[in-house]
Amino acid sequence: MYSRIAGTGSYLPAQILTNADLEKIVDTTDEWIRTRTGIERRHVVAEGETTTDLAEQASRNAMEAAGVSPQDIDLICVGTTTPDLVFPNVGTLLQDRLGIRGCPAFSLEAACASFLYALSVADKFVRLGESKCALVIGADTLTRIIDWKDRATCVLFADGAGAVILKPCADPGIISTHLHADGRYKDLLQYPDGVSRGFKLVRAGKAGVLMKGNEVYKIAVNTLGHLVTETLAANGFNKDQLDWLIPHQANLRIIEAIAKRLDLPMERVIVTIKDQGNTSAASVPLALDTGVRDGRVKRGQLLLLEAFGGGFTWGSALIRY
Ligand code: COA
Repeated sequence: MYSRIAGTGSYLPAQILTNADLEKIVDTTDEWIRTRTGIERRHVVAEGETTTDLAEQASRNAMEAAGVSPQDIDLICVGTTTPDLVFPNVGTLLQDRLGIRGCPAFSLEAACASFLYALSVADKFVRLGESKCALVIGADTLTRIIDWKDRATCVLFADGAGAVILKPCADPGIISTHLHADGRYKDLLQYPDGVSRGFKLVRAGKAGVLMKGNEVYKIAVNTLGHLVTETLAANGFNKDQLDWLIPHQANLRIIEAIAKRLDLPMERVIVTIKDQGNTSAASVPLALDTGVRDGRVKRGQLLLLEAFGGGFTWGSALIRY
Protein backbone atom coordinates (compact mmCIF):
# COMPACT_ATOMS: atom_id res chain seq x y z
CA MET A 1 0.00 0.00 0.00
CA TYR A 2 1.22 3.48 -0.91
CA SER A 3 -0.21 6.95 -0.58
CA ARG A 4 -0.81 9.29 -3.49
CA ILE A 5 -1.49 13.00 -3.73
CA ALA A 6 -5.17 13.31 -4.62
CA GLY A 7 -5.20 17.13 -4.65
CA THR A 8 -3.19 20.21 -3.77
CA GLY A 9 -4.09 23.67 -2.52
CA SER A 10 -2.43 26.80 -1.23
CA TYR A 11 -3.13 30.25 0.10
CA LEU A 12 -1.23 33.51 0.40
CA PRO A 13 -2.35 36.44 2.55
CA ALA A 14 -3.55 39.45 0.52
CA GLN A 15 -1.05 41.98 1.83
CA ILE A 16 2.13 42.33 -0.28
CA LEU A 17 5.44 43.78 0.87
CA THR A 18 7.84 44.73 -1.94
CA ASN A 19 11.58 45.26 -1.76
CA ALA A 20 10.84 48.97 -2.22
CA ASP A 21 8.68 48.84 0.92
CA LEU A 22 11.58 47.22 2.81
CA GLU A 23 13.94 49.98 1.66
CA LYS A 24 11.82 52.30 3.84
CA ILE A 25 12.11 50.03 6.90
CA VAL A 26 15.77 48.94 6.97
CA ASP A 27 19.07 49.91 5.33
CA THR A 28 18.73 47.73 2.24
CA THR A 29 18.15 48.00 -1.50
CA ASP A 30 15.93 46.24 -3.99
CA GLU A 31 19.09 45.42 -5.94
CA TRP A 32 20.79 43.74 -2.93
CA ILE A 33 17.75 41.63 -2.11
CA ARG A 34 17.13 40.59 -5.72
CA THR A 35 20.71 39.67 -6.53
CA ARG A 36 21.49 37.91 -3.23
CA THR A 37 18.20 36.05 -2.77
CA GLY A 38 15.99 36.24 -5.89
CA ILE A 39 13.14 37.78 -3.87
CA GLU A 40 11.19 40.78 -5.23
CA ARG A 41 8.04 40.73 -3.12
CA ARG A 42 6.38 38.61 -0.47
CA HIS A 43 2.97 38.16 1.17
CA VAL A 44 2.54 39.15 4.80
CA VAL A 45 -0.34 38.46 7.18
CA ALA A 46 -2.60 41.33 8.21
CA GLU A 47 -3.30 42.32 11.81
CA GLY A 48 -5.20 39.46 13.45
CA GLU A 49 -4.59 36.96 10.62
CA THR A 50 -3.12 33.67 11.88
CA THR A 51 -1.44 30.48 10.70
CA THR A 52 -4.74 28.61 11.09
CA ASP A 53 -6.49 31.18 8.85
CA LEU A 54 -3.96 30.50 6.09
CA ALA A 55 -4.05 26.74 6.67
CA GLU A 56 -7.84 26.69 6.45
CA GLN A 57 -7.90 28.36 3.03
CA ALA A 58 -5.13 26.12 1.67
CA SER A 59 -6.95 23.04 3.04
CA ARG A 60 -10.26 24.00 1.46
CA ASN A 61 -8.50 24.52 -1.90
CA ALA A 62 -6.79 21.12 -1.63
CA MET A 63 -10.04 19.37 -0.67
CA GLU A 64 -11.81 20.95 -3.65
CA ALA A 65 -9.02 19.85 -5.99
CA ALA A 66 -9.19 16.28 -4.61
CA GLY A 67 -13.00 16.20 -4.74
CA VAL A 68 -13.34 15.43 -1.03
CA SER A 69 -15.34 17.12 1.70
CA PRO A 70 -14.24 17.86 5.28
CA GLN A 71 -16.27 14.83 6.44
CA ASP A 72 -13.97 12.56 4.40
CA ILE A 73 -10.84 13.70 6.28
CA ASP A 74 -9.65 11.17 8.88
CA LEU A 75 -6.22 12.66 9.75
CA ILE A 76 -4.96 16.23 10.01
CA CYS A 77 -1.19 16.68 10.15
CA VAL A 78 0.16 20.25 10.12
CA GLY A 79 3.79 21.26 9.83
CA THR A 80 4.29 24.67 11.42
CA THR A 81 6.66 26.52 13.71
CA THR A 82 4.38 29.51 14.19
CA PRO A 83 1.19 28.19 15.83
CA ASP A 84 -1.66 30.54 16.78
CA LEU A 85 -1.56 29.28 20.37
CA VAL A 86 0.69 27.16 22.56
CA PHE A 87 -2.29 24.81 22.65
CA PRO A 88 -4.64 23.63 21.24
CA ASN A 89 -2.41 22.78 18.28
CA VAL A 90 -3.06 24.18 14.81
CA GLY A 91 -4.36 20.80 13.57
CA THR A 92 -7.06 20.86 16.23
CA LEU A 93 -7.98 24.49 15.57
CA LEU A 94 -8.21 23.66 11.89
CA GLN A 95 -10.35 20.58 12.56
CA ASP A 96 -12.86 22.79 14.37
CA ARG A 97 -12.86 25.33 11.50
CA LEU A 98 -13.61 22.54 9.05
CA GLY A 99 -16.50 21.39 11.23
CA ILE A 100 -15.28 17.84 11.71
CA ARG A 101 -14.83 15.86 14.92
CA GLY A 102 -12.87 12.95 16.28
CA CYS A 103 -10.07 12.32 13.80
CA PRO A 104 -6.47 12.71 15.00
CA ALA A 105 -5.29 16.29 14.47
CA PHE A 106 -1.85 17.55 15.39
CA SER A 107 0.99 19.79 14.38
CA LEU A 108 4.71 19.16 14.36
CA GLU A 109 7.57 21.61 14.18
CA ALA A 110 10.71 21.21 12.11
CA ALA A 111 11.17 24.83 10.96
CA CYS A 112 11.30 25.13 7.15
CA ALA A 113 11.37 21.32 6.79
CA SER A 114 8.07 20.95 8.68
CA PHE A 115 5.97 20.10 5.62
CA LEU A 116 8.31 17.30 4.55
CA TYR A 117 8.17 15.93 8.11
CA ALA A 118 4.35 16.15 8.12
CA LEU A 119 4.12 14.51 4.70
CA SER A 120 6.38 11.67 5.81
CA VAL A 121 4.34 11.04 8.97
CA ALA A 122 0.97 11.16 7.17
CA ASP A 123 2.33 8.89 4.42
CA LYS A 124 3.02 6.25 7.06
CA PHE A 125 -0.52 6.49 8.46
CA VAL A 126 -1.90 5.92 4.96
CA ARG A 127 0.50 3.10 4.15
CA LEU A 128 -0.41 1.32 7.38
CA GLY A 129 -4.10 1.58 6.54
CA GLU A 130 -4.82 3.95 9.42
CA SER A 131 -5.90 6.83 7.20
CA LYS A 132 -7.94 6.77 4.01
CA CYS A 133 -7.97 10.53 3.48
CA ALA A 134 -5.24 12.58 5.15
CA LEU A 135 -4.99 16.36 5.10
CA VAL A 136 -1.33 17.43 5.24
CA ILE A 137 -0.38 21.08 5.56
CA GLY A 138 2.66 23.33 5.71
CA ALA A 139 1.74 26.75 7.09
CA ASP A 140 3.74 29.51 8.71
CA THR A 141 3.58 33.17 9.67
CA LEU A 142 7.31 33.69 10.13
CA THR A 143 6.90 37.46 9.76
CA ARG A 144 5.36 37.42 13.25
CA ILE A 145 8.70 36.44 14.81
CA ILE A 146 11.05 38.51 12.67
CA ASP A 147 13.06 41.38 14.09
CA TRP A 148 12.00 44.07 11.62
CA LYS A 149 15.17 46.02 12.46
CA ASP A 150 17.43 43.14 11.35
CA ARG A 151 18.05 43.57 7.61
CA ALA A 152 19.82 40.20 7.43
CA THR A 153 16.58 38.31 8.11
CA CYS A 154 13.55 40.58 7.61
CA VAL A 155 14.05 40.71 3.84
CA LEU A 156 13.88 36.90 3.54
CA PHE A 157 10.85 35.56 5.36
CA ALA A 158 7.16 35.63 4.43
CA ASP A 159 3.81 34.01 5.17
CA GLY A 160 1.66 31.38 3.45
CA ALA A 161 0.17 27.90 3.52
CA GLY A 162 0.08 24.86 1.26
CA ALA A 163 -1.82 21.59 1.60
CA VAL A 164 -2.18 18.18 0.03
CA ILE A 165 -4.75 15.39 0.37
CA LEU A 166 -3.26 11.89 0.61
CA LYS A 167 -5.23 8.78 -0.29
CA PRO A 168 -4.27 5.09 -0.39
CA CYS A 169 -3.17 3.60 -3.67
CA ALA A 170 -1.79 0.25 -4.85
CA ASP A 171 1.06 1.97 -6.74
CA PRO A 172 3.13 4.95 -5.63
CA GLY A 173 2.32 7.86 -5.15
CA ILE A 174 4.86 8.77 -2.60
CA ILE A 175 7.76 6.48 -3.42
CA SER A 176 9.88 7.38 -0.39
CA THR A 177 10.52 10.14 2.12
CA HIS A 178 13.85 10.93 3.79
CA LEU A 179 14.09 12.90 7.02
CA HIS A 180 17.20 14.09 8.84
CA ALA A 181 18.23 16.44 11.64
CA ASP A 182 21.42 17.63 13.30
CA GLY A 183 20.93 19.64 16.48
CA ARG A 184 24.61 20.63 16.58
CA TYR A 185 23.75 23.56 14.37
CA LYS A 186 21.07 25.06 16.60
CA ASP A 187 22.96 28.34 16.99
CA LEU A 188 23.15 29.10 13.28
CA LEU A 189 19.42 29.59 12.80
CA GLN A 190 17.02 29.96 15.69
CA TYR A 191 14.32 31.90 17.47
CA PRO A 192 15.94 32.12 20.89
CA ASP A 193 12.89 32.17 23.13
CA GLY A 194 9.87 30.05 23.96
CA VAL A 195 7.42 28.72 26.49
CA SER A 196 9.76 27.00 28.94
CA ARG A 197 12.25 29.84 28.76
CA GLY A 198 9.46 32.06 30.04
CA PHE A 199 9.35 34.29 26.94
CA LYS A 200 11.90 36.54 28.67
CA LEU A 201 13.27 37.99 25.42
CA VAL A 202 9.76 38.46 24.03
CA ARG A 203 8.73 40.34 27.17
CA ALA A 204 11.83 42.54 26.90
CA GLY A 205 11.08 43.21 23.21
CA LYS A 206 14.38 41.60 22.20
CA ALA A 207 13.22 38.45 20.43
CA GLY A 208 13.60 37.77 16.72
CA VAL A 209 14.91 35.12 14.33
CA LEU A 210 18.72 34.92 14.54
CA MET A 211 20.65 33.65 11.56
CA LYS A 212 24.27 33.31 10.50
CA GLY A 213 23.24 33.47 6.84
CA ASN A 214 26.58 32.75 5.29
CA GLU A 215 27.17 29.57 7.31
CA VAL A 216 23.57 28.42 6.83
CA TYR A 217 23.99 28.92 3.09
CA LYS A 218 27.07 26.71 2.79
CA ILE A 219 25.65 23.88 4.90
CA ALA A 220 22.27 24.05 3.13
CA VAL A 221 23.83 23.67 -0.32
CA ASN A 222 26.04 20.81 0.79
CA THR A 223 23.34 19.00 2.77
CA LEU A 224 20.63 19.35 0.13
CA GLY A 225 23.09 18.17 -2.51
CA HIS A 226 23.63 14.94 -0.56
CA LEU A 227 19.90 14.65 0.15
CA VAL A 228 18.80 14.67 -3.48
CA THR A 229 21.47 12.11 -4.36
CA GLU A 230 20.38 9.91 -1.43
CA THR A 231 16.72 10.17 -2.44
CA LEU A 232 17.25 9.09 -6.04
CA ALA A 233 19.77 6.36 -5.13
CA ALA A 234 17.45 4.84 -2.49
CA ASN A 235 14.98 4.10 -5.25
CA GLY A 236 17.37 3.25 -8.06
CA PHE A 237 16.43 6.33 -10.11
CA ASN A 238 18.81 8.38 -12.24
CA LYS A 239 18.90 12.16 -12.33
CA ASP A 240 17.62 12.21 -15.90
CA GLN A 241 14.39 10.43 -14.92
CA LEU A 242 13.30 13.37 -12.81
CA ASP A 243 10.61 15.63 -14.28
CA TRP A 244 10.51 18.34 -11.59
CA LEU A 245 12.56 19.57 -8.67
CA ILE A 246 10.21 21.26 -6.20
CA PRO A 247 12.59 22.82 -3.68
CA HIS A 248 12.27 24.85 -0.52
CA GLN A 249 12.38 28.51 -1.55
CA ALA A 250 14.99 30.06 0.76
CA ASN A 251 17.41 31.54 -1.76
CA LEU A 252 17.46 31.36 -5.57
CA ARG A 253 21.20 30.68 -5.49
CA ILE A 254 20.68 27.61 -3.26
CA ILE A 255 17.95 26.35 -5.62
CA GLU A 256 20.23 26.84 -8.63
CA ALA A 257 23.07 24.97 -6.92
CA ILE A 258 20.83 21.95 -6.26
CA ALA A 259 19.45 22.00 -9.80
CA LYS A 260 23.05 22.01 -11.07
CA ARG A 261 23.85 19.03 -8.86
CA LEU A 262 20.96 17.19 -10.55
CA ASP A 263 21.97 18.41 -14.04
CA LEU A 264 18.45 19.85 -14.28
CA PRO A 265 17.86 22.97 -16.36
CA MET A 266 16.03 25.67 -14.38
CA GLU A 267 13.04 25.14 -16.69
CA ARG A 268 12.43 21.91 -14.74
CA VAL A 269 12.52 23.55 -11.33
CA ILE A 270 9.43 25.16 -9.78
CA VAL A 271 10.55 28.55 -8.51
CA THR A 272 8.19 30.82 -6.57
CA ILE A 273 10.70 32.73 -4.46
CA LYS A 274 10.54 35.91 -6.58
CA ASP A 275 6.94 36.59 -5.58
CA GLN A 276 6.68 34.68 -2.31
CA GLY A 277 9.99 34.88 -0.41
CA ASN A 278 10.75 32.17 2.14
CA THR A 279 7.40 31.02 3.54
CA SER A 280 9.06 28.36 5.73
CA ALA A 281 6.89 25.20 6.03
CA ALA A 282 4.56 26.51 3.31
CA SER A 283 7.16 26.95 0.62
CA VAL A 284 7.29 23.40 -0.80
CA PRO A 285 3.52 22.75 -0.91
CA LEU A 286 3.00 26.28 -2.29
CA ALA A 287 5.50 25.54 -5.09
CA LEU A 288 3.89 22.15 -5.74
CA ASP A 289 0.42 23.70 -5.96
CA THR A 290 1.72 26.46 -8.23
CA GLY A 291 3.17 23.88 -10.64
CA VAL A 292 0.02 21.74 -10.56
CA ARG A 293 -2.38 24.64 -11.12
CA ASP A 294 -0.43 26.25 -13.96
CA GLY A 295 -0.31 22.86 -15.72
CA ARG A 296 3.45 22.27 -15.60
CA VAL A 297 3.24 19.37 -13.12
CA LYS A 298 1.27 16.55 -14.72
CA ARG A 299 -0.04 13.18 -13.53
CA GLY A 300 2.54 10.40 -13.88
CA GLN A 301 5.55 12.71 -13.63
CA LEU A 302 8.41 12.13 -11.19
CA LEU A 303 8.83 14.90 -8.59
CA LEU A 304 11.56 15.49 -6.04
CA LEU A 305 10.55 17.69 -3.11
CA GLU A 306 13.19 18.93 -0.65
CA ALA A 307 13.53 21.36 2.26
CA PHE A 308 16.09 22.54 4.80
CA GLY A 309 15.48 24.48 8.00
CA GLY A 310 16.56 25.51 11.48
CA GLY A 311 17.83 22.75 13.73
CA PHE A 312 19.11 21.84 11.28
CA THR A 313 16.28 19.72 9.91
CA TRP A 314 16.00 18.56 6.33
CA GLY A 315 13.85 16.23 4.32
CA SER A 316 12.81 15.07 0.87
CA ALA A 317 10.12 13.11 -0.91
CA LEU A 318 10.24 11.30 -4.25
CA ILE A 319 6.77 11.26 -5.74
CA ARG A 320 5.11 9.83 -8.82
CA TYR A 321 2.42 12.49 -9.12
N1 COA B 1 20.64 44.63 2.55
C1 COA B 1 21.84 45.12 2.29
N2 COA B 1 22.98 44.59 2.76
C2 COA B 1 22.85 43.50 3.55
C3 COA B 1 21.61 42.95 3.87
C4 COA B 1 20.46 43.55 3.34
N3 COA B 1 19.23 43.09 3.56
N4 COA B 1 21.80 41.88 4.66
C5 COA B 1 23.14 41.75 4.83
N5 COA B 1 23.77 42.75 4.16
C6 COA B 1 25.20 43.01 4.06
C7 COA B 1 25.99 42.42 5.20
O1 COA B 1 25.97 43.30 6.31
C8 COA B 1 27.36 42.28 4.59
O2 COA B 1 27.98 43.54 4.62
P1 COA B 1 29.56 43.66 4.86
O3 COA B 1 30.20 42.91 3.74
O4 COA B 1 29.78 45.13 4.84
O5 COA B 1 29.78 43.03 6.20
C9 COA B 1 27.05 41.96 3.13
O6 COA B 1 25.70 42.37 2.89
C10 COA B 1 27.21 40.51 2.78
O7 COA B 1 26.54 39.76 3.77
P2 COA B 1 26.49 38.20 3.70
O8 COA B 1 25.70 37.70 4.86
O9 COA B 1 27.86 37.65 3.49
O10 COA B 1 25.66 38.02 2.35
P3 COA B 1 25.38 36.71 1.56
O11 COA B 1 25.81 36.84 0.18
O12 COA B 1 25.76 35.48 2.33
O13 COA B 1 23.78 36.73 1.51
C11 COA B 1 21.92 35.69 2.64
C12 COA B 1 23.05 36.71 2.72
C13 COA B 1 21.17 35.68 3.95
C14 COA B 1 20.99 36.10 1.50
C15 COA B 1 22.53 34.30 2.34
O14 COA B 1 23.60 34.05 3.20
C16 COA B 1 21.53 33.19 2.50
O15 COA B 1 20.57 33.09 1.78
N6 COA B 1 21.79 32.29 3.45
C17 COA B 1 20.94 31.14 3.66
C18 COA B 1 19.74 31.58 4.40
C19 COA B 1 18.71 30.53 4.48
O16 COA B 1 18.60 29.71 3.61
N7 COA B 1 17.94 30.62 5.53
C20 COA B 1 16.79 29.86 5.73
C21 COA B 1 17.04 28.42 5.80
S1 COA B 1 15.47 27.75 5.89
